[in-house]
Amino acid sequence: MAGIGLDASITEKVFALAKRRGFYWQAYEIYGGVGGFYTLGPLGVRLKDNIIRIWRKIFLEPYEFIEIESPTIAPYIVFEASGHVGSFKDAMAECLKCGKKYRADHLLEERGVKVSEATGLDLLEKLLNENRVSCPDCGSLNWRVSSFLTMFQTNIGPYKESIGFLRPETAQGMFVEFRQLYEINRARMPLGVAQIGKAYRNEISPRQGLIRLREFSQMELELFFDPQNSRCPYLDEVKDVRMNILDEEKVKAGDNVPHNVNAREAVEKGFVKEEWLAFMMALSQKFLFILGVKPEFQRFKAKLEGERAHYSAQTFDHEVLTGKFGWIEVAGHAYRQDYDLKSHSIKSRTSMEVVEELSNPIKVRKRFAYVDPLKVKRDFGQLSTQIFKAVSGLKPYELAELLERYGNIDVNGTVVGKEYFMFKEVEETVSTRKYVPHVIEPSFGSDRLAYAALEYAYTIKDNRVVLKLPRDIAPIQLAVLPLVSKDGLPEKAKEVYKLLIDEGFTVEYDESGYIGKRYARFDEIGVPLCITIDYQTLKDNTVTIRDRDTWKQVRTDIKELPNLLYKYFRFKINFEDLGLPVPIEKP
Ligand code: ATP
Ligand code: GLY
Repeated sequence: MAGIGLDASITEKVFALAKRRGFYWQAYEIYGGVGGFYTLGPLGVRLKDNIIRIWRKIFLEPYEFIEIESPTIAPYIVFEASGHVGSFKDAMAECLKCGKKYRADHLLEERGVKVSEATGLDLLEKLLNENRVSCPDCGSLNWRVSSFLTMFQTNIGPYKESIGFLRPETAQGMFVEFRQLYEINRARMPLGVAQIGKAYRNEISPRQGLIRLREFSQMELELFFDPQNSRCPYLDEVKDVRMNILDEEKVKAGDNVPHNVNAREAVEKGFVKEEWLAFMMALSQKFLFILGVKPEFQRFKAKLEGERAHYSAQTFDHEVLTGKFGWIEVAGHAYRQDYDLKSHSIKSRTSMEVVEELSNPIKVRKRFAYVDPLKVKRDFGQLSTQIFKAVSGLKPYELAELLERYGNIDVNGTVVGKEYFMFKEVEETVSTRKYVPHVIEPSFGSDRLAYAALEYAYTIKDNRVVLKLPRDIAPIQLAVLPLVSKDGLPEKAKEVYKLLIDEGFTVEYDESGYIGKRYARFDEIGVPLCITIDYQTLKDNTVTIRDRDTWKQVRTDIKELPNLLYKYFRFKINFEDLGLPVPIEKP
């Protein structure tokens, strides 16, 4: 059965269909294929475009959030500042006999041994060896575990020392441009910035089709907000969206029965820390529902402290139940705090603060930090100039805050501790307030979404595949078919085809073969409606419309067709309202 997580062979069935009909297939097959790279075919491209269009409609358009497109390659310093160079690593298990390499946690999970992203390298190695996990390739039982940086490294230009990385997330492109974006958004907060594009991760041994790729597409939104005014004004808009949430407490206790709450309740009960985070999770559930996944097959699972990315104060994986892989993550919802903006502020020595005009001036106590030049010169010698230059880019109170937070500052790899600074506290009357915004980030991968949509749409009826893709994401909306390819029917059908194309629908025309076979072909790729031109069309200008899911037919006038179809796709009117019923076809 499709889409309810029971049929473990569904992945192979979906893959066979995807390849046969042109949704996706392994790339570079003529050279034996390369793991983690897939090509989207004509139907896959359209499916992805539709997923992206709906994402924009749900996450961006109602809230006037903006979208950018930044480069996919960034210089070393960007990912050094973001913390990826230091921590974007996976534990890699190497077979000591054949040299094959795998994700250590995946090998253990396949063996039924529970570990997490927080499990240390030594323990992983011990668990692999103690549990006698055998190498999938040669069967040997001896492992060594080390950590592997999963960013793809390259050189920018012909200089060996000019290292760059292919981005492992689109997010940094938005953080590094924050100042510019804030200004073009007329200094308004909160500010939502989105980016859709390729991301690259050098996954150790990707073996899960579209779910684990080395090159994939992300749809990310960074919602910048004031941490002292963190109310989300849209919570009531999603009050009917009840989410299954496994909060940190439940995850720790191994309790898999989720809370079922709406966004406001999730915040009030303390499961979710920020209103914006809960709001994005609710939108996420709505989005997945539109892609064909019912709420009972969705859940939000909290990541525990050691498992979260280095920047996150709270993360929920939005998971969907699948047949072969169980619960898979389709989106990560993270509270990134001010981690990234502050880190880029330090590294680039550019202030990332925004300014709020206060209606009444207020008194504030401020802590300032000033570098102690004598001490720095004494202990850092020639490096002192660099250190002075670095700190001069920061305001004294920013410097104090950073030192408070990290205990030191890092100037191109040189760590300068608190003891090299002098602190002063002053009371000031101010009419503006400055702060570094905090960030909530929903991060989706469109390839995993496409896979989930295909798995949930895959059904068998009368021994053949009917791909019940929701009408919003079906790659082809309509097929126009003359009943037979003679007697003037193709000519009339081509007129209808042209009419519908001109009206903006995605349409295919097909006159080859027996009509039943053609219906089957279009059912298999998820075309919601087939328009058939028959002998009656020539008499009274009516056509039949056939529904993919029920195989029922109605008859309607060609004149009415564009308007009715528009309502069907745009306003989701029922199939039965498209015309007058005609007797059910014999399959
Ligand atoms: P996982 O734990 O499954 O490796 P992740 O926690 O690394 O995923 P994130 O870093 O949160 O994933 O990335 C955000 C989203 O990007 C994911 O929810 C997923 O949809 C997508 N994504 C991440 N890695 C891959 C990948 N290797 N292949 C396809 N999509 C991916
Ligand atoms: N931007 C979140 C991630 O890709 O990990």
